[in-house]
Amino acid sequence: MLDLHPAPADMARLVIEGLNRTPKQLPAWFLYDNEGSRLFDAICEQPEYGLTRTETALLKRHAPAIATALGEGVLVEFGAGSARKVSPLLEALAPPAYVALDISAEHLQQACRNLQQRHPTIPVLGICCDYSLLEQLPELPLLAGQRRLGFYPGSSLGNFDHDEAVTLLAQFARLLGSNGLLLIGIDQPRSVAALEAAYNDRAGHSAAFARNLLVRLNRELAGSFDPGSFRYEAHWQARDSRIAMALVSARDQQVSLAGTSWQFTAGEALITEYSHKYSPEAFTALAAAAGWHSLERWSADDGSFSLHLLQPATVGAAPGRLSI
Ligand SMILES: C[S@@+](CC[C@H](N)C(=O)[O-])C[C@H]1O[C@@H](n2cnc3c(N)ncnc32)[C@H](O)[C@@H]1O
Repeated sequence: MLDLHPAPADMARLVIEGLNRTPKQLPAWFLYDNEGSRLFDAICEQPEYGLTRTETALLKRHAPAIATALGEGVLVEFGAGSARKVSPLLEALAPPAYVALDISAEHLQQACRNLQQRHPTIPVLGICCDYSLLEQLPELPLLAGQRRLGFYPGSSLGNFDHDEAVTLLAQFARLLGSNGLLLIGIDQPRSVAALEAAYNDRAGHSAAFARNLLVRLNRELAGSFDPGSFRYEAHWQARDSRIAMALVSARDQQVSLAGTSWQFTAGEALITEYSHKYSPEAFTALAAAAGWHSLERWSADDGSFSLHLLQPATVGAAPGRLSI
């Protein structure tokens, strides 16, 4: 595995910037230390969180058609997590190599080990990095002369606001190259009750996932957060078509970190992450703003989720086809 994780000083700078914002907000990737990644896996198994089951079923069902549409190339997964969704694609594609990018180093290493055991004939490489900042994929013999097929599941794009999402998709276009393709999973707006339950499960894993962020800040950046004095909330914000997840201060309190102090008033929110939801049309427009052309789409029967296959717009693709 290659380890390009941001240095503690860069993390401290990002946290200070985030706590100086109104409302206070931290980059979503801070949620993913080893314990955060473990808690995220637990969230994926909760009855309220259907996204993982829906996307996994779509991938299993359509893997042969997706593999045909993707063609030959190295598969590059952004934000691979436990890399549990990619197996049907690896089986159908048999790519010359698979590269997993993720910010959570220890978890990524274990995920790559497990995946390598399941697919012994495909070379597996992990790169621990912030994919939004990566200037280029490392020049490795594994990647030399190969087309790059991007895979970005989990609707992780939803963590970024509109402008950031356009920038990130343009960044992926750059990393994948002019003959690359991107397969991306996107969660769609639906019942507010179902969405709010998905991000605030009854078993409390979502709350533990958010609170673990404060534990991490205390441990890694000498923070003084009292995680017990923040309650977790997840609310649908219709105007922005997103769920906002926050730790809300239960009382007036002062918190310090990396030599700086901040005041929280009772009821004040620290945004831990957003999850923006896009209709297929809204997503296609967003992707177009980043220079991607929509080539094909596979959607869940209940309309809650779609896998979109994108091609750089400059390639001048034929009009898109829909597979519903
Ligand atoms: C919502 S989880 C999705 C995990 C998995 N792809 C799935 O679909 O279940 C987001 C994953 O992306 C990783 N991640 C989040 N922000 C990242 C960033 N800026 N750079 C690299 N990895 C990131 C997290 O560590 C986590 O594993």
